[in-house]
Amino acid sequence: MKAIYLTLITPLFSAVLLFSGGTAIAQQKKAVLSPQQKMNTFISMLMSKMTLDEKIGQLNLLTGGEATTGSVVSTDVESKIKKGQVGGIFSLTTPARIRKAQEIAVQQTRLKIPIIFGQDVIHGYKTTFPIPLALSCTWDMALIEKTARIAATEATADGLNWTFSPMVDISRDARWGRISEGSGEDTYLGSQIAKAMVKGYQGDDLSKYNTMMACVKHFALYGAAEAGRDYNTTDMSLDRMYNEYLPPYKAALEAGAGSIMTAFNDINGVPATANKWLMTDLLRKQWNFKGLVVTDYTAVNELIDHGLGDLQAVSALSLNAGVDMDMVGEGFLTTLKKSVQQGKVKQQRVDDACRLVLEAKYKLGLFEDPFRYCSEERAKTEILKPEHLDFARKVAGESFVLLKNDNNTLPLKKTGTIALIGPLANTGTNMPGTWSVNSDLANTASLLQGMQAAAGTDVKILHSLGSNLLADAQYQERATMFGRDIPRDNRPEEEVINEALKLANQADVVVAALGESSEMSGEASSRTNIEIPDVQKRLLAALLKTGKPVVLVLFTGRPLALKWESENVPAILNVWFGGTKTADAIPDVLFGAVNPSGKLTTTFPQNVGQVPLYYAHKNTGRPLAEGKWFSKFRSNYLDVSNDPLYPFGYGLSYTSFAYSNLILNKQSFKTGGSITASIDVRNTGSVEGKEVVQLYIQDLVGSSTRPVKELKGFEKISLKPGESKTVNFKITEEDLKFYNMALKFVAEPGDFKVYVGGNSRDVMETTFALVK
Ligand code: BGC
Repeated sequence: MKAIYLTLITPLFSAVLLFSGGTAIAQQKKAVLSPQQKMNTFISMLMSKMTLDEKIGQLNLLTGGEATTGSVVSTDVESKIKKGQVGGIFSLTTPARIRKAQEIAVQQTRLKIPIIFGQDVIHGYKTTFPIPLALSCTWDMALIEKTARIAATEATADGLNWTFSPMVDISRDARWGRISEGSGEDTYLGSQIAKAMVKGYQGDDLSKYNTMMACVKHFALYGAAEAGRDYNTTDMSLDRMYNEYLPPYKAALEAGAGSIMTAFNDINGVPATANKWLMTDLLRKQWNFKGLVVTDYTAVNELIDHGLGDLQAVSALSLNAGVDMDMVGEGFLTTLKKSVQQGKVKQQRVDDACRLVLEAKYKLGLFEDPFRYCSEERAKTEILKPEHLDFARKVAGESFVLLKNDNNTLPLKKTGTIALIGPLANTGTNMPGTWSVNSDLANTASLLQGMQAAAGTDVKILHSLGSNLLADAQYQERATMFGRDIPRDNRPEEEVINEALKLANQADVVVAALGESSEMSGEASSRTNIEIPDVQKRLLAALLKTGKPVVLVLFTGRPLALKWESENVPAILNVWFGGTKTADAIPDVLFGAVNPSGKLTTTFPQNVGQVPLYYAHKNTGRPLAEGKWFSKFRSNYLDVSNDPLYPFGYGLSYTSFAYSNLILNKQSFKTGGSITASIDVRNTGSVEGKEVVQLYIQDLVGSSTRPVKELKGFEKISLKPGESKTVNFKITEEDLKFYNMALKFVAEPGDFKVYVGGNSRDVMETTFALVK
């Protein structure tokens, strides 16, 4: 196949080789071209042969007729490919199908331009890792990078070369369903994770058969949708934008991400997909981004509902604003030519966009071999490899967060009888989590199966449903879309509970598998009530009344308001949605083979009224004095304290850690210099454990208001019982910089506080100065 293709496209390649010094004579006459120059030459030559229609065709991204995320599904894809009207296809998988589409492109179109194949490879491919929010709770960049590497290895084996990931939207609103798809609330941590993901997907050479192009999304500020309602308006100061929300996108691009996706939301009055300031002034001019800008699903067409005009007008608007490729809506395909003819769009802008699409294909090596990513052999051997599955199990275990563990309720003994109760205990399809379109749902084990396998013959496991996921059957239907089956029992609630209580009474310990279904978070899955559904709470209360020790295994894709549970249940293990191997990873932790070490990357509020609640808040002019929870004329509520239920960075272990000796190697440093903070951490318990040591900094006096603390470093360490380690953090001027009111990135001399601890609340502190 490669041979056939090369005979078609070879004249162009040889022209470039000749031009770039491929012969001795040429070498003498011309300097050798850099890879960039070679690419430019190749693309210029190709573009010189292209008609306006063919160029516009390259800007069109269609679905391949498989899983989609909107109501529009592309039609007549094959005939559009033949007409040169398709630049890319997404959600088409397997080497056979992709090869078929690619063959049409490179054999039956005039210019034989290959297609780029994308997919939402979000947290793994077939081997599915924990949802991104859970993954971030590992605080382990090497591990996170490896999940992206494995995802790329599997996805490219199946024919794909472009992933719509990482999603780096900061979110501080637990109501927003897509908080599950990002790395939580923190700018610094989110930026580190963004870089790790890009590195994992793209490696150091995009043209390799097992690397794929990353697409950072959703540009920008999608996570700040008003009231946590999906696709809602965003309105934000530049101070907040530059300091808190934009850095992760920038970090991902600096790490080399080849593409970026626009967001659905309106930003300060101009939707992201039509926002010239965002896509041209900021992205291209300030950040110097050279890659491809693609819209989100039908986002161009949605500009009509945003109120910006008809399809021709919004297509022109969005291309002129800086979009290069139109996902699914076909507005570019159907209207741009007319807009060029009428002078509403400059031909140059179409050329620039087309060039960026072709460059992406070139960098992926598709002009050299359009079938590079299609290998049945690799698909057979690389996908769901045992090593990948073992790693998925390890990662899931590392992502769980132990929220409470009174009286060492956990780990469980491997003897006696366990009653495993709850609507989430016997469902495999619910385990992988939202956005796992490639997961093999039918073959994903349930917690019940995992517990039975882990318990062997030593422990008797009893199981009962206990309650429905939701009392309202229609709500349950909305919460279990995309084949996520959760058993439902239509008998009266009391009867279902009583059946479970009978088993609970026969057991030594109760494990209650409760919380959200995986589709209660994710896209278009916002909630105004972020508690465990009432019907499950009634079950939990009844289980507690039996007097048996109860362990709550909590499934969730967002921070939940768990005040009652935190006061009444002795042990809570938050397992999020852990991917393919969740069913094994949970017993690993419950029985103590794995000591939990996950730390929250999103604040858990006491109730939904506190939302948005995040640790890096501003002090206000009327802060509440420490230790108080209410004072008149201070910034607080009448009915609940300002405290979170579980703060950012929080998570328990089966062991305990003591922090001591926070010291700085000097009291101040000059601009350009650095200072080192060190702290001793000791494992004071009786088992080996991992701890995420966190460093926060506060700028005490600024030209604008500064957060009460901001994460600026962390290290995950492992300590044997009794072992102690000194952790050092080098603080440079860079760590003290922020965007001032003139949007200059500066460090202002003055006093700073340093906080170090095992979460954002329980810290030791000291001060230093930055001097001129
Ligand atoms: C989502 C994107 C996704 C796209 C393609 C949209 O609905 O917002 O995150 O990449 O669909 O599936």
